[in-house]
Amino acid sequence: MGTLFDAAHAHDAACIMRTYARKPVMFVRGDGMRLYDDDGAEYLDFVSGIGAVNLGHAHPAVTAAVAEQAAKLVHVSNLYYVEHRAELACDLVRLLGGGMRVFFANSGAEANEGAIKLARKWASTAKPGAYKVVSTLRSFHGRTLATLAANGQPGKSQAFEPLPQGFVHVPLNDIEALESALDETVAAFLVEIVQGEGGVWPARDEYLRAAEALCREHGVLLMIDEVQTGFFRTGPAFAHQAHGLTPDVVTLAKSMANGLPMGALVAREEVAAAFEPGDHGSTFGGGPVVCAAGRATVAALQAENLGARATLAGEYLRKALLELAQRTGAISDVRGVGLMVGCSLASPVAVQVAASLLGRKVVVNHIGADILRFLPPLVCGTAEIDTLLATLEDAFKEVAQ
Ligand SMILES: Cc1ncc(COP(=O)(O)O)c(C=O)c1O
Repeated sequence: MGTLFDAAHAHDAACIMRTYARKPVMFVRGDGMRLYDDDGAEYLDFVSGIGAVNLGHAHPAVTAAVAEQAAKLVHVSNLYYVEHRAELACDLVRLLGGGMRVFFANSGAEANEGAIKLARKWASTAKPGAYKVVSTLRSFHGRTLATLAANGQPGKSQAFEPLPQGFVHVPLNDIEALESALDETVAAFLVEIVQGEGGVWPARDEYLRAAEALCREHGVLLMIDEVQTGFFRTGPAFAHQAHGLTPDVVTLAKSMANGLPMGALVAREEVAAAFEPGDHGSTFGGGPVVCAAGRATVAALQAENLGARATLAGEYLRKALLELAQRTGAISDVRGVGLMVGCSLASPVAVQVAASLLGRKVVVNHIGADILRFLPPLVCGTAEIDTLLATLEDAFKEVAQ
């Protein structure tokens, strides 16, 4: 570890709130799926900023778009028109199939917070008396109070009670539980197509289709959280498209501007119409720098056909993990869609395995004690996956000793 790390570590310990148990490494540069620490050592990145850098680090088109816009104008607020905002909104609506409107936020939590507000406002005239949001156990939608209440992870919210009212949780992939939850008080069903932070748990196709039909039947908005699954991570532009769904609301963030902070709430015209001037707002949302980055990101993801690459690389990775599972017995389950891949370990050593991998210059994320998650940039190829697998096998051996 270099002197840059030592200084950052000391200042961090002195002045930063202790909300993260940071790993002992400082990254100073990136290129594609490679990261470089302050000593110049090279790492393979299977985290991509928690799924936020789908194009890979330092993509030249995004860098150029940011530099050009930053040199012209950084911020004036949503009170005025700026370059790139409306164009990016139209790009997103086109990718989502048309007939929708966009509100720009700065993060996934803000996008979901906006979606919850929109559902309540929509219901106030479309379904009077309805205000509840049904979401799934193990889901993750953010860290604001309303999104904490929506999360199906009580451990993350108990310390912050009382939480906003009006949230109901049902198990994922249990259509009967959803059916019994959808009554006249429910405004929306909020769901991830693949639960990310909960441990990479995909929703089943028949569940999603039945959930959509139930939402229509009960006059409930289908709100899909694509914060982690979006922008070609699972193959199609948005994960729900593989299931032929027509959501009323879609929330986006993470890789929308390839790592710059940005979120969006996108809703069908009739639903979006519930928001009137003054109902919602953001100082920074939809600023020209992040929107320029967003346009460059969307264009490059499509031009480089990264959805198709994510599908192929994801299949290769899952197959390789299954083979490793058979050979070592260290992995008990492999799952995921596209390049959103998780595996459960046979024993609760995920923290140690991730630490061993980091020592071997491979960056991997663990969820809890027994799940490893792989979210590489979508430029990840088979050679990088082969390196990951060989390193993982070494890490399993080290941790077993
Ligand atoms: C599905 C999902 N929704 C929302 C969020 C919250 O996003 P942010 O951290 O940008 O607020 C996350 C973050 O991991 C997420 O995975």
